[in-house]
Amino acid sequence: MQVVKTVSDVREAVAIARDGGERIGCVPTMGALHAGHMSLVEDCRERSDFVVLTIFVNPTQFSPTEDLSKYPRPLEDDLAKCREADVDLVFTPEVPMLYPQGFETYVELQHIPNRLEGAHRPTHFRGVATIVTKLFNIVQPDVACFGQKDYQQQTLIRRMVRDLDMPVEIVVCPTVRERDGLALSSRNVYLSESERRSALSLYASLQLAQERIQSGETDLHAIRTAMHDLMASREYVSPDYVSLADPNTLDELDTPVPHMVALVAARVGKTRLIDNLVIEL
Ligand code: PAJ
Repeated sequence: MQVVKTVSDVREAVAIARDGGERIGCVPTMGALHAGHMSLVEDCRERSDFVVLTIFVNPTQFSPTEDLSKYPRPLEDDLAKCREADVDLVFTPEVPMLYPQGFETYVELQHIPNRLEGAHRPTHFRGVATIVTKLFNIVQPDVACFGQKDYQQQTLIRRMVRDLDMPVEIVVCPTVRERDGLALSSRNVYLSESERRSALSLYASLQLAQERIQSGETDLHAIRTAMHDLMASREYVSPDYVSLADPNTLDELDTPVPHMVALVAARVGKTRLIDNLVIEL
């Protein structure tokens, strides 16, 4: 496995693979790898011959109030996991490599970033769209894998790739959960045992929405209230948003449609968690 820090080293390694007729796959991450990330690698391995995993804690997607410096960076553990998963190339650039002095070009979407996570983190998705565009330009993958866990993020990336004619296939992989339903996240380590138990209410509220919608209930307002109340009834949990939305635009729905998505965000103690569930009628 090659581990490189510069854009030119990535280009060189990828060019050799491509010359050998290999299909290039890419898994963008911020490191602190867990089984959710590794499921993307596994999927990417099946869809490509040369897997590039990027580890970069992207400063432009953090707001000044979010502590970028506290983001976990267990690089040696991450590299061991990549080796075990048969990753071909790991790209771990430093910040000035991707944001040289005088950097001033950003990729911004008009509609999708305005709600949900974007309402809570106003410049977040501009940072995500910009770094993902840069990584695609550097790696030039045939296929790139993202998690459904970050539903709004994958919606935005698919839209951006379509709108800007980026020649890459986007694959969205299912959310990996603990046995009890808690979605894996690098932030779960911040939860105490009792907070963790309360955090199960996020998935429970999504399941409640699914059951009620699939059993024919049409009052989405009442379902949103029930989802909110279920989470709020648990100690340490303060819900941030509850959404029942169109799966492509993320516009809020008035009545159920055959294919929709339920999304929630809540603070559990000091930790902010998100989760979602696609609901089919
Ligand atoms: P990060 O949070 O490290 O996540 C990297 C990828 O792993 C994302 O596509 C995310 O959706 C996926 N992922 C996280 N938890 C998952 C889970 N439990 N199951 C399945 N997939 C999961 O998302 C980012 O980094 C950044 O915003 C990035 C796209 C790398 C741009 O900086």
